[in-house]
Amino acid sequence: MVKDDTASAEVERAAELLAHGGLVALPTETVYGLGAWVLDEAAVARVFAVKGRPVDHPLIVHVGHAGELERWVSSVPDVARRLAAAFWPGPLTILLPRSSRLPAVVTGGRPAVGLRVPAHPLALAVLAALDRLRPGDAAIAAPSANRFGRVSPTTAEHVRADLGGDVDLVLDGGPCAVGVESTIVDLTGARPVVLRLGGIDLEHLADVLGERPAVETEAPSDAESLGGARAPGLLASHYAPQAQVVLVEAAAEPSREVASAVEPLVRAGRRVAVISPTSVAGLDPAAIELEPAGPPDDYAHVLYDRLRQADRLGVDAIVAVLPPPGGLGDTVRDRLRRAAS
Ligand code: TXA
Ligand code: MG
Repeated sequence: MVKDDTASAEVERAAELLAHGGLVALPTETVYGLGAWVLDEAAVARVFAVKGRPVDHPLIVHVGHAGELERWVSSVPDVARRLAAAFWPGPLTILLPRSSRLPAVVTGGRPAVGLRVPAHPLALAVLAALDRLRPGDAAIAAPSANRFGRVSPTTAEHVRADLGGDVDLVLDGGPCAVGVESTIVDLTGARPVVLRLGGIDLEHLADVLGERPAVETEAPSDAESLGGARAPGLLASHYAPQAQVVLVEAAAEPSREVASAVEPLVRAGRRVAVISPTSVAGLDPAAIELEPAGPPDDYAHVLYDRLRQADRLGVDAIVAVLPPPGGLGDTVRDRLRRAAS
């Protein structure tokens, strides 16, 4: 974790690297991002290469404040201003028609660009430092800093485990506060459409929009061809650990439902880890109980670390007790459902 006295030197180094074509993994409040300066097409191309990501999967553009929207989009509707005022800095990405000065490689050739202002002091400090080096053009294109198809990283350690020496700098800002990716809202149509559930829940969006937004988070069935998906990062495989994931829908006290999910797995000789909001009474001693995930916000915060932990333990299956719906519970349920599919 970067200490205060070294933070400013690290931030300057990160900005220098970005301004000169380097790749920097940096913390945000959601997950760690793999950043490149948005106007350096070669660096952006390297992001795709390092991640092993298809070039038609667009990258989110991170800016320092809402006033910079105009630089990267061709028009800013009133609803975008209202959402930005309500949620930025924070875990909301909005899709708007991109401006012609944004390199096409950033959006994978798509007409819209996803933008957000991250709520992490180090990310914001890097953007401010980059603005001194590239005045007026400080924006960082950054997907999650994992290899394509892996669970998003929520600590610097996760980033190092995935990307190792392929990045020029990993800026360590500690564990990400939110722990799941940003909510994506498409504002290019007549009505706002949520394309990915994330760190801003539907209830809070509805408060600002005046109605519950449409939710279209299912990639079309032909999405394996990628071109068909509106938000291609929504493929189920993106959220899957190596172990098989078995979901359990349970009331407040999940022990009976967990037992019936665990028992056949253990009987079949499979090594099982259990993740649950609360501790599970009377768990089969052959199963490994991971530290309880807690209420939905806490569950979101620890989810990806627990999935990675289970993989490190080398279990064959993860029995995951779903949090109740509502708030970030919806996001955690979405990710676990994808992980299980
Ligand atoms: O919280 C987050 O959003 C993190 C942090 C680093 O900001 N970033 C992140 O990026 O999750 P990534 O690339 O792993 O996922 C972004 C997804 C893409 O896979 C794509 O589905 C969608 O957002 N997306 C981004 N820009 C888009 C665009 N212009 N059109 C359609 N979908 C887009
Ligand atoms: Mg990702």
